[in-house]
Amino acid sequence: MSSPVYRVLPDAKKRALIDDEKYLKWYKQSVSDPEKFWARHGKRIDWFKPYTKVKNTSFTGKVSIKWFEDGVTNVAYNCIDRHLKKRGNQVAIIWEGDNPYDDKKITYNELYDKVCRLANVLKANGVKKGDRVTIYMPMIPEAAYAMLACARIGAIHSVVFGGFSPDALAGRIIDCESEFVITADEGLRGGRKIPLKHNTDLAIEIAERQEVRVKKVLVVQRTAGKIEWFEDRDIWYHEAIAKAKPDCSPAKMKAEDPLFILYTSGSTGKPKGVLHTTGGYLVYASMTHEYVFDYHDGDIYWCTADVGWVTGHSYIVYGPLANGATTLMFEGVPNYPTPSRFWEVVDKHQVNIFYTAPTAIRALMGAGDEYVKASSRKSLRTLGSVGEPINPEAWEWYYNVVGEKKCPIVDTWWQTETGGIMITPLPGATNLKPGSATRPFFGIQPQLVDADGDVLEGTADGNLCIIDSWPGQMRTVYGDHDRFVQTYFSTYKGKYFTGDGCRRDADGYYWITGRVDDVINVSGHRMGTAEVESALVSHDAVSEAAVVGYPHDLKGQGIYCYVTLMAGVEGTDELRKELVKHVRTEIGPIASPDKIQFAPGLPKTRSGKIMRRILRKIAEDDFGALGDTSTLADPTVVDDLIDNRQNKK
Ligand code: PRX
Repeated sequence: MSSPVYRVLPDAKKRALIDDEKYLKWYKQSVSDPEKFWARHGKRIDWFKPYTKVKNTSFTGKVSIKWFEDGVTNVAYNCIDRHLKKRGNQVAIIWEGDNPYDDKKITYNELYDKVCRLANVLKANGVKKGDRVTIYMPMIPEAAYAMLACARIGAIHSVVFGGFSPDALAGRIIDCESEFVITADEGLRGGRKIPLKHNTDLAIEIAERQEVRVKKVLVVQRTAGKIEWFEDRDIWYHEAIAKAKPDCSPAKMKAEDPLFILYTSGSTGKPKGVLHTTGGYLVYASMTHEYVFDYHDGDIYWCTADVGWVTGHSYIVYGPLANGATTLMFEGVPNYPTPSRFWEVVDKHQVNIFYTAPTAIRALMGAGDEYVKASSRKSLRTLGSVGEPINPEAWEWYYNVVGEKKCPIVDTWWQTETGGIMITPLPGATNLKPGSATRPFFGIQPQLVDADGDVLEGTADGNLCIIDSWPGQMRTVYGDHDRFVQTYFSTYKGKYFTGDGCRRDADGYYWITGRVDDVINVSGHRMGTAEVESALVSHDAVSEAAVVGYPHDLKGQGIYCYVTLMAGVEGTDELRKELVKHVRTEIGPIASPDKIQFAPGLPKTRSGKIMRRILRKIAEDDFGALGDTSTLADPTVVDDLIDNRQNKK
């Protein structure tokens, strides 16, 4: 398969921090002597006590990952204090509200003040080093203050995406036994209100039933909407910080002290609490932010993600702020008030670097070029993509229409678990191929293996593993190290298995082909099919459910559910609607089923295992290639499934 090649743009090369020669040289150093390489680059952040040990990692046995372990630092200090002398009056955060007339700018001096005050409020309310603080917020600057305030005092934050339901929020509060929640009265997206405080109240009730008691809830006033108030538990943010002291010395954190937990879906069970620590994470987030986006002092940088996802952690908050950048935070959605919004914001704030997801690109492409062309976009220099494979058509549109052939696209492959970008072009170094994440970042050693774990060399298609550690890697699953070892290091012994399929072409370029496990990627959001199944079977009418992904024009993948009903229950359209609503309540709108097929029986092996391969094929309307069905306990169920498929082309 040949792909067009877009050569490095001369302007990009001229200004780039890293050209191809440097990339190749540094990459070689980074994998042949990681100790030396990272000993040098670890110094990009400030340390209260410098490290003497750099790398102490093992992917075998109990699996232990430590970087810079005897170093002492503080993430908030690195993201704020160390910049104050040079750039106290520089804008740290540009906030663009849901409403286009709503915006504000926060300088580094102001950021210091806000974060210190909030850190003092946390302390005054009993939050100590190592305590877990849940952050359930809209995209407002206070979300970043909250993360940084936790980092400042050594509390571990767990940010929960504002689109998750009370149940999902409760599950995350319970898992890490979080006693403190920071939220807002309501969120605002696309002109619609999201009842964050109300959801928090409900989640706290659920948690209480499991004997996890949230003691305090700090509430930011965003909309001044009507909310319930619990005098002994709830605290107004604006009142508390007005009274707090504007200085708070940063806690001395060991490099391996936890920084945050972020829950993410896997192929089995409940979402896992991915744990990231302090030193290595920040080194990796800041280094990737600088080189992948070719960030230069003074650039205006905008990542459209939500802080509820890892992209928001590493590339809205920690990476850019550690680099003293101006980072733009956007509260709204791409098509509100019109599909020109992104480009209007680019022009309004003169954005130089723009980082978004393929699902947004596809949606805006569908809306028509005129919405893009109505803007100038002259300030744009680098474009980024993340979250799912970008289809070549969307890539070409992004490159030609949005970037007008003047901006390199960095298609960045990485995961919640990896902490930062792993496989990516560099703007001034890498020739681009639409749809390929291209080459590994410094220190990253990808390997393709077949199903038996045999290593595939050269041009190949296989399962993507990483064979040695990098500083941004997750350290454990919070509270369950065995699950960490089991999930990531047991499929292929001694290797980190990503869960992704991948092809390597003759130029050594990597092409991510999507998940090979039971995880689906809906609009760049990770969803465990098991989670949706368990939400479905928790409904009274459902006896069994099997969920698979299928190709979806806008979302990348859609959610296709096969549902077996309880005896005597009729499968009506009404019930379909009810089940969709039920899943939304259990997990959140991002898990809304796209298709529900009522199935009297599911294809199972004689040992009772559901044959998902068959269900995937039927959902894709590709049942000509079902393969061998003779091992099924009851091969006739397949005919019924085909006859009643919901995705007839
Ligand atoms: O399947 C890959 C896909 O998203 C998964 C990670 O999801 P999450 O942890 O939610 O993090 C998303 C943002 C970093 C990966 O296993 N993925 C992410 N980026 C890309 C991608 N697939 C292809 N190309 C990408 N650039």
